[in-house]
Amino acid sequence: MKSEYQHFIDLNDYPVQWWLNVLELGEKIKNNPSDFAHECDGKIMATLFYEPSTRTQMSFQTAMIRLGGQIIGFDNPANSSVSKGETIKDTTKIVSNYADILVIRHPVAGAAKAASLSADCSVINAGDGGHLHPTQTLTDLLTLKTEKKRLDNLTIGMCGDLLNGRTVHSLCKALSMFNNRFIFISTKHLSMPAYIKDIIKANGSSYEEVNTLEEAVDKLDVLYMTRIQQERFSSEEEYLAEKDTYVLDKQKMKLAKKDMIVMHPLPRVDEISVEVDDDSRAMYFRQAKYGVFVRMALIMTMLGEKKESVTLKGKTFGKINCSNPNCITNHETYLPKSFIPCGDETLIECEYCDERKLI
Ligand code: NCD
Repeated sequence: MKSEYQHFIDLNDYPVQWWLNVLELGEKIKNNPSDFAHECDGKIMATLFYEPSTRTQMSFQTAMIRLGGQIIGFDNPANSSVSKGETIKDTTKIVSNYADILVIRHPVAGAAKAASLSADCSVINAGDGGHLHPTQTLTDLLTLKTEKKRLDNLTIGMCGDLLNGRTVHSLCKALSMFNNRFIFISTKHLSMPAYIKDIIKANGSSYEEVNTLEEAVDKLDVLYMTRIQQERFSSEEEYLAEKDTYVLDKQKMKLAKKDMIVMHPLPRVDEISVEVDDDSRAMYFRQAKYGVFVRMALIMTMLGEKKESVTLKGKTFGKINCSNPNCITNHETYLPKSFIPCGDETLIECEYCDERKLI
């Protein structure tokens, strides 16, 4: 299936050199933002946020305004025709005729991909359920390039909700391309999904898994903390059992290297105690600031590219449906199913949400 427009659904849809070009442009913008003040004069960006957001939504809006463009959109679907039962297909079709670029965040995995199938402009994925968050990854990569001066040969600890945290999924997929070593710090229930671990190995990076911060913190160049994703749990009880397991405090920071940096996509709940904020290694507020520059670079790049893209590469397997209940194909059932065979044809992967299924 083809689209007339270039979309940004998953960073790994593009070659590494393309990411590096976006980051380089982001750095130029960071150093001289006023040089770019009219790059998007007359252009309109629509932000369709079906899920709460502070940083991602506002940094996209700030980015477009700083480029000279204008913004439309909603941040509460209850105030749009979504509340009347309108499908993603129809909402996207309509709004993409009003705007030049569309940014979508949705609680269901694969929603941005679904939007790209019917959009008459470029679509950017600003987070789809617990699946991916590629623009946060661009933000994280710019932070690493600026603060660590490299993207390779790093030991990166990722701590917290690695199962439901879309930021760490996207970041692992990206950083595994640069010969890095990951240490995953989580409980057994919230460990990194198998498909991400397979990607890390296939890309030539390595990982290990531990249960406590103390076991890992002295080995790290980067510690990426994450929030337990309460909204992805099926019950309050399950959430409470996981909450407060990991708290980064002054005591644990004493065990870390002098040049380790602490990142967090934010919002933080209580996984980083506020006393860490004054430590010069705490990078999370600066990280959020870098998000504007890199999103300016991404908007410019997407609007500058008028290339056609392939939206669905996979195929159907009879009447087989995706087995992930939180996949968009199980919420909006008109969507064409699409699976990619993994190795032999007994294992297939849903192209929208990456859920695997044996057939
Ligand atoms: C993250 C998200 O929405 O996935 N936040 C963000 O975009 N900066 C992380 C989170 O909500 O925990």
